Amino acid sequence: MKNSDNTLLFGEISLEEFKKSVIEKSKTIGKQIFYFNSIDSTNTFALILAEKGYTEGTVVIANKQLSGRGRFDRKWLSPADKNIYMSIILKPEVLTRHIPLLTFMSAISCASAIIKTTPINVSLKWPNDLVVNGKKLGGILIETRSEKNKINYATVGIGINVNFSIDEMPEDIKDTATSIKEETGIDYPRTQIVAEVLKDLDRWYHIFLNKGYDDIKREWLRLSSTIGKFIRVKSGNNIYEGYAAGIDDDGMLLLDDGKSLEKINSGDVTVIK
Ligand code: BTN
Repeated sequence: MKNSDNTLLFGEISLEEFKKSVIEKSKTIGKQIFYFNSIDSTNTFALILAEKGYTEGTVVIANKQLSGRGRFDRKWLSPADKNIYMSIILKPEVLTRHIPLLTFMSAISCASAIIKTTPINVSLKWPNDLVVNGKKLGGILIETRSEKNKINYATVGIGINVNFSIDEMPEDIKDTATSIKEETGIDYPRTQIVAEVLKDLDRWYHIFLNKGYDDIKREWLRLSSTIGKFIRVKSGNNIYEGYAAGIDDDGMLLLDDGKSLEKINSGDVTVIK
């Protein structure tokens, strides 16, 4: 299971050259990179690799996904030649209740990479969205296999809309989704953004492992466009409305509905004002 040395990542750069540029300063992420022109889902493939014992830091990238998925098993639209679809295997020895912190760490890595490589002023919507001007630019899907309350391994799935145009999007997401191209009018090469995401993820992952969660929470809050806003959250069959007051130590959303402080562990947020 190996790409040949002259495989071209997104048709832009040789995979070998790309890998060298990523692992120059990397401690963990990107020592092994798999690239597919088409795959069912990079997350599914990364989960199989992790189960087979592939080391943490292994990356799976695709130019197209046939069954890309988002949170709550929603379809993640993944046409060829446009966007970033990738998954990274991690094996942190942490408790399952810390999984949201992995999402935060991944989201801030994506946001800082986009801020470095494009003029886009991206922000983060709890729990896993990359947004710009209130529209969704990308998302993170963390999937884990755990025993008792400890993680065996996790895959960080990252989807970022890069050169997707609104006219290619289906009606149901046209008003709520966007892409780097839609926001800037410019086509962006995906390799540079992917390289920065991987470098930033390497840096934040070591902060996650060695320094605890305070820096990650602080950076997530700095980039957040949810906290301090009046929001609606759909969580399972419940709908909550109130002020997003903050996040707790495990990444749960603290919602002040005027009577009590609710702790919400997952859901879809709409910012009202
Ligand atoms: C979401 O916002 O619901 C999360 C979307 C995550 C999509 C990415 S694309 C790469 C990886 N493979 C998948 O099938 N999904 C994730």
